Amino acid sequence: MNGKQAAGYLAAGWVEDGMKVGLGTGSTAYFAIEKLGERVASGLRIKAIATSKASEDLARKFNIPLLQASEVKRLDIAIDGADELDAALNLIKGGGAALLREKLVAKHSDRFIVVADGSKVVDRLGAFKLPIEVVPFCYEWTLGSLQERYDVPFALRVKEGQTVVTDNGNYIIDAAFGQIASPRQLAEELKQMTGIVDHGLFIGIAEQAVVGYEDGHTEIIKAN
Ligand code: A5P
Repeated sequence: MNGKQAAGYLAAGWVEDGMKVGLGTGSTAYFAIEKLGERVASGLRIKAIATSKASEDLARKFNIPLLQASEVKRLDIAIDGADELDAALNLIKGGGAALLREKLVAKHSDRFIVVADGSKVVDRLGAFKLPIEVVPFCYEWTLGSLQERYDVPFALRVKEGQTVVTDNGNYIIDAAFGQIASPRQLAEELKQMTGIVDHGLFIGIAEQAVVGYEDGHTEIIKAN
């Protein structure tokens, strides 16, 4: 068992019968979804909303019943990965381009649990390039506004020669802040800029993190 699997499996064990569950995106959330699928096969009754088309496909594969947002106002729990987390459980997310759905689901969940391996824990956020979701319309102007305001490298996310398009039809700009001195302030500033839909800073949203290590042991970090 690797760290991602240990974390995902442990957090999936916290889901109780009858819960409405947010399913995260990425290689760590995968293990939580897989374990939930096993538990559903053994009789656990849950309903879920997935944070990406990929995770929705996984939920279907594992026979986890899906919910529509119109059926429910809030979820009981959401389990998702992170690209970086600090001791206060502030996060960078969006490496998989799913940050907008992930944030929406996390904010509408009574408990937001992060699952990650030990490599994701950092003293200060920012070594991982911060993903920023922008509308495609005139995105060059949004990129220009970012470059004017912050003296760090920004790049439109491209994969195999193609601009990455999110599940919401938007683009991702990755920002190499290096070290983010004040994540909350940066989060608020970015949110106010026209053209930006949202960004991968998750501040004060996570309740707990399950961090898994290569030898299979896990540590729990609680938000202060
Ligand atoms: C998806 O957009 C991301 O926020 C993921 O949750 C994050 O990239 C963590 O992914 P891994 O668990 O694959 O490292």
